[in-house]
Amino acid sequence: MILYEHFKINSKGHLEIGGCDSVELVEKYGTPLYVLDENKIRENCRAYKNAVKKYFGENGGEIAFASKSLSFKGIYKIIADENLWTDIVSPGELQTAKEAGFPLENAYFHGNNKTDWDIEYGLDNNIGVFVVDNMEEIDVLNQLCGKHGKIQEVLLRISPGIEPETHAKITTGGVDSKFGIAVGTGQALEAAGYILEKKNLNLTGIHCHIGSQIFDVQPLLDTADCMLEFAKDVKNKYNYEIDIINLGGGFGVKYIDSQQSLNIDEGVKAIAEHIKIKCGELDIKTPKIVFEPGRSIVANAGATLYTVGTNKKITGYKNYISVDGSMGDNPRYALYEAPYTIVAANKANEKSEITAAVVGRCCESGDFIQEDVELPDLKRGDILAVLVTGAYNYSMAMNYNRLPRPAMIFVGDGGSRIAIKRETFEDLMRNEI
Ligand code: LLP
Repeated sequence: MILYEHFKINSKGHLEIGGCDSVELVEKYGTPLYVLDENKIRENCRAYKNAVKKYFGENGGEIAFASKSLSFKGIYKIIADENLWTDIVSPGELQTAKEAGFPLENAYFHGNNKTDWDIEYGLDNNIGVFVVDNMEEIDVLNQLCGKHGKIQEVLLRISPGIEPETHAKITTGGVDSKFGIAVGTGQALEAAGYILEKKNLNLTGIHCHIGSQIFDVQPLLDTADCMLEFAKDVKNKYNYEIDIINLGGGFGVKYIDSQQSLNIDEGVKAIAEHIKIKCGELDIKTPKIVFEPGRSIVANAGATLYTVGTNKKITGYKNYISVDGSMGDNPRYALYEAPYTIVAANKANEKSEITAAVVGRCCESGDFIQEDVELPDLKRGDILAVLVTGAYNYSMAMNYNRLPRPAMIFVGDGGSRIAIKRETFEDLMRNEI
């Protein structure tokens, strides 16, 4: 196995994913290719569902999949099948979920700048819960609900002023942030009062998300404290009880050997125990707890397969292995210098001989998939697999240099099926007149 049980090396020395030989997958579907192990996604969903049930009770909690991490029709079908809610952040995600048949009454609608049109579209489609982010949204949502003759359930997004140890570009809970309304300045408490005055809004709870790729549970416990204290303040000031606390996502995932995923069961257990004690201390009822994981549901179910084109050795400098994908299908190194494990999928048992930068085919010097990768001395035609690419790869993919986005397949129990077709030239020019 490499990193996780479901990435195996078979008797031919090939990487195997979901019981499928990666070299055979490449022969069948071509490269670059996103591969998703469906069983692993379901396993991750169940780990969350079971943990919440175990530590918060049958109806004490809920899991909503943060679909910004991976949004396409096939994933919403799995999420619905596993009885998870979802979180959407744009009308495009809403539409994708809708066309997949996802029950939109089980969706949270996020976003720091929902347009009037977005809000109306959400209302037209009976989105379950709006997560209101700012004062303008409170006004517009209330007014449009009036027009639609609706009372809309809302959560208030608060920012607790907690910045976990993760990449600065993926923290979201600081006071100095575009997301939510700050608790520390007193503005969040005012906003809660403002919602309570609105006759078309029903404030059932509060939401918080402090960041992504968090390995330590402590900042999540601190966030829970902040939210529960806020719930107590709301009770004291407005004589109103908050029913739901949505703690966001953020559970960290192992991309390289030196990392350790935040264990889902242990993380949920620690948070549940902490919340129960805190609610006792504050003398408030234990609210329903919602988690909104994205990365930890889909990241480790994914891998991307590429074909090697060149192995350039610069005398006195490093090697460059160029592949037929790019920062266009995985922008995470270019954006965050995110670490990945890369293996030679057709030579997985061969020993490493070179240290190379794995680069893409974009006309851009920063087009790195990864630096300092230990690999066999690869040749044109060899296959590279980048592991743990299920989250924030396809969903952040782009067409720079007019590179069509890769196909995506599901694998499982030795079988494979196409989930998203490879983009064509026609797709690239679809909207051009
Ligand atoms: N809920 C909210 C409101 C969020 O903003 C996010 C992520 C999540 C849930 C899911 O967090 P997760 O469980 O996936 O950590 N593009 C970046 C990640 C940005 C995350 C933004 N918000 C990356 O590639 O690392």
